[in-house]
Amino acid sequence: MEEIKKYVETNKQRFLDELFELLRFPSVSADPKYKGDVLKTAGYVAGKMKEAGADHVEVCQTAGYPIVYGEKIIDPALPTVLVYGHYDVQPPDPLELWHTPPFEPTVRDGKIYARGACDDKGQFYMHVKAFELMMQTGTLACNVKFMIEGEEEVGSANLGIFVNENKERLKADVVLISDTSMISMENPSIETGLRGLAYMEVEVTGPNRDLHSGVYGGAVANPATILCKMIASLHDENNQITIPGFYDKVVELNSEEKDALNSAPFDLDAYKKDLEIDAEWGEKGYSTLERTGTRPTLEVNGIWSGYTGEGAKTVLPAKANAKISMRLVPNQSSEEISEIFTRHFESIAPDYVKVKVTAHHGGEPVVTPTDSIAYRAAEKAIVDSFGKAPIPTRGGGSIPIVALFESVLGIKSVLFGFGLDSDALHSPNEKYDIYNYYKGIETLPLFYKYYAELSR
Ligand code: BES
Ligand code: MN
Ligand code: MN
Repeated sequence: MEEIKKYVETNKQRFLDELFELLRFPSVSADPKYKGDVLKTAGYVAGKMKEAGADHVEVCQTAGYPIVYGEKIIDPALPTVLVYGHYDVQPPDPLELWHTPPFEPTVRDGKIYARGACDDKGQFYMHVKAFELMMQTGTLACNVKFMIEGEEEVGSANLGIFVNENKERLKADVVLISDTSMISMENPSIETGLRGLAYMEVEVTGPNRDLHSGVYGGAVANPATILCKMIASLHDENNQITIPGFYDKVVELNSEEKDALNSAPFDLDAYKKDLEIDAEWGEKGYSTLERTGTRPTLEVNGIWSGYTGEGAKTVLPAKANAKISMRLVPNQSSEEISEIFTRHFESIAPDYVKVKVTAHHGGEPVVTPTDSIAYRAAEKAIVDSFGKAPIPTRGGGSIPIVALFESVLGIKSVLFGFGLDSDALHSPNEKYDIYNYYKGIETLPLFYKYYAELSR
């Protein structure tokens, strides 16, 4: 521990400078205009991985953005840790809400503000630096394989193919991922589940053209009104989802599991205050932690129709669209849910409109074990570094590839995240505490140490 602290202390500024350099690349995977930047980011990551001491570093081409791979095999008899992360980020818009530019990392009050600061550049880069530290201090206790991808924020479709085609190369005993949150630095926690996702787009069409809303209004159905009604009908008075069969495979937690989940420190008043809402909302009969961690949900992610420009235009729009996604829990299948959503949405369309439903990316839910050697190693690492045992929690977000690591490679993951829910992931002014960054770099080597010890 002393040696680790000393190495971090000596290299503090450089660790920060390198992360800043990484954050300056606008590696937005969703928008083709950033293509050159995303590719440059992969090159930067590969270079840093090599500098840190990894062998066989390769920028692996795919049909989309490349995967950066590198490894250090010190002894085939030792356990192997597969580190996964992503160098792509979400689009930065709305730009006008950022206090400082999203791709010009800025420190305020001990926090790094930049798109990707927490999700996931700040977090995966801790692994590169922890690896450097273990190499430099001669303390690397396990074999390591790195797989840092560039398409997580758009569904990881090509990584799925890569994993299927590289089963031998990716052989490992555990997948280690820092791309999730902790409750707080005072209450360290480890997420033990991720929700799945089914992402849909719908289009409701009325007349064959936009109409004068005075001449035709009241006599022709308005697709915007109909779409809103259809969407509103997807939740009932208890805020349960009304799609037939939606809950069929959902497993209820037993009362012991519920108690454990609800015993995690959570301050509803602080939560409401942070979001400036007067009341929370959700499925009747469940707590906020249950709603986000263990229950499936349906959200409108975007909705548009008609005239949205300056001033007023009296128009009856010809069509209305929405993006709608559902978060899934064990044992829901994203394909099945996409299908029943499509069938249901088509069935509730009245005669006076036409409806088109298309499916975007999806992903399966996962629950990670808390009785594994890897989980115990993470627990011990946190005890040493935070002076407190981590609380197991269920996360509301999704990392679709994690389910594939399990189904294709047969490897379970440890979600060793150091972010905070308040880090504004995907929002303007995303941040990552410098404290968390260094804390992560200090804690990860302990995981390797304990994982090797417990594997013996
Ligand atoms: N790192 C997040 C997922 C996450 C965040 C999990 C916080 C737990 C806590 C990841 O980058 C992400 O944003 N995933 C997307 C899914 C993807 C298919 C676009 C998500 O959850 O919306
Ligand atoms: Mn992420
Ligand atoms: Mn994300």
